[in-house]
Amino acid sequence: MNKRLVLGITGGIAAYKSCELVRLCVKAGIAVDVIMTKAATHFIAPATFQALSGRPVWTDLWDAREPKSMAHIELSRDAAGILVAPASADFMAKVANGFADDLLSTLCLARQPGSPLLVAPAMNVEMWQQPPTRRNKARLVEDGVVVLGPGRGEQACGETGDGRMLEPADLFAHVAALFAPKLLKGKRILMTAGPTEEPIDPVRVITNTSSGKMGYALAQAASDAGATVCLVSGPTSLPTPAGVTRIDVKTAREMFEAVKAQVAGAHVFIAVAAVADYYVKEYSERKLKKREHHPGLTLELAENPDILKWVAQSEKAPFCVGFAAESHDVLENAEAKRRRKGIPLLVANRAQDAFGRDDNQITLIDDNGRHPLPRGTKAALAREIVAHLAAMLDAD
Ligand SMILES: Cc1cc2nc3c(=O)[nH]c(=O)nc-3n(C[C@H](O)[C@H](O)[C@H](O)COP(=O)(O)O)c2cc1C
Repeated sequence: MNKRLVLGITGGIAAYKSCELVRLCVKAGIAVDVIMTKAATHFIAPATFQALSGRPVWTDLWDAREPKSMAHIELSRDAAGILVAPASADFMAKVANGFADDLLSTLCLARQPGSPLLVAPAMNVEMWQQPPTRRNKARLVEDGVVVLGPGRGEQACGETGDGRMLEPADLFAHVAALFAPKLLKGKRILMTAGPTEEPIDPVRVITNTSSGKMGYALAQAASDAGATVCLVSGPTSLPTPAGVTRIDVKTAREMFEAVKAQVAGAHVFIAVAAVADYYVKEYSERKLKKREHHPGLTLELAENPDILKWVAQSEKAPFCVGFAAESHDVLENAEAKRRRKGIPLLVANRAQDAFGRDDNQITLIDDNGRHPLPRGTKAALAREIVAHLAAMLDAD
């Protein structure tokens, strides 16, 4: 695919943030053709985008630089998609109603069927909440336009609320997804991620230090690769990956119920969650008091269900992928776990290298042996796991 993006900039203060977005794209080898509305040029000069993208910036429907004089058609052809960031309230209204009175709106209307159009709204909270803007947003979604955000927080006007444009790094993740090879197109993937929490009393839990980052990165990579992803997640502070359906649970037993309810029809099950092996047998409805248990408290633990084993041994079992986080003898323990659970692919990592971090070092273990991957970000490793999984599914 042509590694080219059309980036539309409309008249909002957040236009300055799109400079950083262009920089991230260029760094990733993506060519960016910037198109600015007239209002956008009041906020930031085209020369800035031209310098950052290293390509001409387009502002005028009647620009004669394009050989056929039809920049509104030629610029979108062969591009991976169009992202408009920031998208003003006015621009959303235009696209929602099919107006084509400047280069950017005409280009959006002239895009080919199936060509992605993403918009990242940025506006004052009141503008965002007005019925016309809400109607326009709903209509855009109905028309297949992907609306990214907006986020919530302090605004340039001094007010606070919904309407902030997503940060450049978040927008870049959506851009990167446009270019990901669709290796898992048509596949339904059920996943678990994060820790579980086993309650002791109304205020205390037994949990672990899993952050959920690896599972969330893998859910994002699988979704970017064209899979339909359902993520059953223990408690984390992470945002839901774009395009992924998320079901929140707390305990291992809740996770098991959610997996049982979702597994029918899944082609692949990926168990990334750090599921507690035990739960507290006698949950106390009342907060336990120190003075009542002095000088020590004994908790009786009972075994939790083995979710991965249950799925792997179920009738019509999907292709199962497990994760093993071990502190010692990582590969030996991981190989034993793969055999014990009877699963085709297992991802081994050292718990001390993995939990809570943004990078990791992993080894994939399958029937052909060990496949160590160089240390990398969890996002990069997730893409490698997706590629390995897709190759195994193809060979299956
Ligand atoms: C200082 C200033 C800041 C503005 N910020 C925004 C904004 O963040 N979002 C928005 O939708 N409109 C904003 N506007 C209004 C738009 O610039 C205006 O509606 C313009 O017509 C949009 O044109 P365009 O959609 O062709 O870019 C702002 C206007 C001014 C004067």
